[in-house]
Amino acid sequence: MPASPSLATTIRTHTCGALRAADAGAEVRLGGWVHRKRDLGELVFVDLRDRTGLIQISFDPRFTSSETVSLAATLGPESVVLVEGEVVARPTEMRNHELPTGDVEVRAKSLKIVGPSVAPAIPVARVRGEPLPAEELRLRHRYLDLRRPELQENIILRHRLMQTSRKFLSDRGFLEVETPILTKPTPEGARDYLVPSRVHASEFYALPQSPQLYKQLLMVAGFDRYFQIARCFRDEDLRVDRQPEFTQIDIEASFIDQDDIVALTEGLIAALWGEAGLEVPASFRRMSYADAMERYGSDRPDLRYELEIFDASDVFRDTEFTIARAAIAQGGRVRGIRVPGGSGLSRKQLDELEASAKSAGAGGLVRLKRTNGQLEGPAAKFLHDGAATQLALGEGDLALLVAGPNHVSSPALDRVRQDVGRRLALVKEDVRSFLWVTDFPLFERDPGTGRLAAVHHPFTAPHPADVAKLDSAPETVRARAYDVVLNGTELGGGSIRISDPALQSRIFSLLGIDEATASARFGFLLEGLRAGAPPHGGIAFGFDRIAMQLAGAASLRDVIAFPKTTAARALFEGAPSAVPREDLKELHIRIEEPGT
Ligand code: AMO
Repeated sequence: MPASPSLATTIRTHTCGALRAADAGAEVRLGGWVHRKRDLGELVFVDLRDRTGLIQISFDPRFTSSETVSLAATLGPESVVLVEGEVVARPTEMRNHELPTGDVEVRAKSLKIVGPSVAPAIPVARVRGEPLPAEELRLRHRYLDLRRPELQENIILRHRLMQTSRKFLSDRGFLEVETPILTKPTPEGARDYLVPSRVHASEFYALPQSPQLYKQLLMVAGFDRYFQIARCFRDEDLRVDRQPEFTQIDIEASFIDQDDIVALTEGLIAALWGEAGLEVPASFRRMSYADAMERYGSDRPDLRYELEIFDASDVFRDTEFTIARAAIAQGGRVRGIRVPGGSGLSRKQLDELEASAKSAGAGGLVRLKRTNGQLEGPAAKFLHDGAATQLALGEGDLALLVAGPNHVSSPALDRVRQDVGRRLALVKEDVRSFLWVTDFPLFERDPGTGRLAAVHHPFTAPHPADVAKLDSAPETVRARAYDVVLNGTELGGGSIRISDPALQSRIFSLLGIDEATASARFGFLLEGLRAGAPPHGGIAFGFDRIAMQLAGAASLRDVIAFPKTTAARALFEGAPSAVPREDLKELHIRIEEPGT
């Protein structure tokens, strides 16, 4: 990391965290927030804080006026003060080894309160181990919570990661180009946030779910390599790793193939992790989507632990166990995981695992454990003698199985796998398991409507070897799409795009988008592709997710300065909010009262 620049100004000579033993004897002027105060009667100590750290200030009547000491005694927490004084070495026994400034203190000569604070709604200074106030309260008073050193560190790390991304990409010939925020809907699978137009009655802009179409058009325009630290907006159900408004490191390049994107982005990830002082493998493991689904039941498996899914259909095929037989007869399978030493799990724990499988859509969870050489569990009586061996269960092992079609067993076993990994502490916390998942299917069929939908987005190129199957077996067509996964979290995803306008129109039509709709929604892309498009592709990373990983934060909210709650509300400024009727009228909008 380069040396920090001096933040000295005409008002202050130093920052609070900058002073060291070598500064003893210096006359300094400091500004900061009152972190803590200890009033010993004769003597007052104040810990003064700014974003660089804390410094102890002593107010001692031997070195300053008694008025200054009395004023110091009145200081409330979080007021902003200016202090003038001399840096002095602390006596050895008074040194504070936990503070970088702990060898010195500033002996105050003058004190000025420049920004008095009302009693803070939540404390900033905390006793070690003291729980944080409720998150709602902290979000409501974000300006105070943001003073907390942990959050300050996260926001500073975020800044550094942003600069690292910019430098890495710019050094490799990528141009940073801004794309519109007031735009047309782009299909990334979520709902759009719409913005009414005042000048064009009944017309709306959409906030971008991603700059997808613009970055492709920049390739058509010949910019060759583009990136943007892009704001994206998606109206979708929120979770700890999803915000309605989030940031992507968005990348697109021309005359490239999947391996070029892979090599480039592995380098970018190494640079970002390096900025946080961490190493990553030189290249990441790769796994096809089909393999990931078969072995882990998920397209973003956490590979920090094994628990691989196996097919146990043969063990159940000719048994009287009706659930399994019925599933197999209908073309399904019995799949499950082996939990080494899992027979020690209690009945209650197994019931909880079953509840988790059910919540992911399974009818139930078959449990079989091997104790004293025998299989135990409700289904054991249906199985033949060699079943334990066939299931490859060792003494004390447990098998957890789900019968049904893959679209039922995969998500259920994924959930069970994660639960078991957590409960048995199988997750190796110090391992960073990066993975490329490749060869996604191009389409998935909506079970409700029977219609095809794009798995990635409709601009993703099909695998050349599969193009012939577009009409006859569209669900088997593989996409030239790839995701980067870290420890079970999707960090980024992208694809090689369709650069042939005829193929793009064909994909729209397979997706049930008729010509008129395609031209109304994506006409500008089709026109662009017809104007001479290079082969191109790209990727986008969830920047907030990367910052969250590198900060070791539990939620995206801890790496975003002003985040939204899971109910998509901004509690601090109070958004969304009602607007006056006249404003709505100008926008040609009438609110229907509920029930009207
Ligand atoms: P995709 O939709 O996969 O691809 O998004 C890319 C990455 O963005 C992050 N992400 C989110 N982060 C926080 N909150 C959200 N609501 C959220 N949604 C997505 C994820 C994800 O991997 N245009 C394509 C990229 C491309 O094809 O180049 C796109 O947006 O980390």
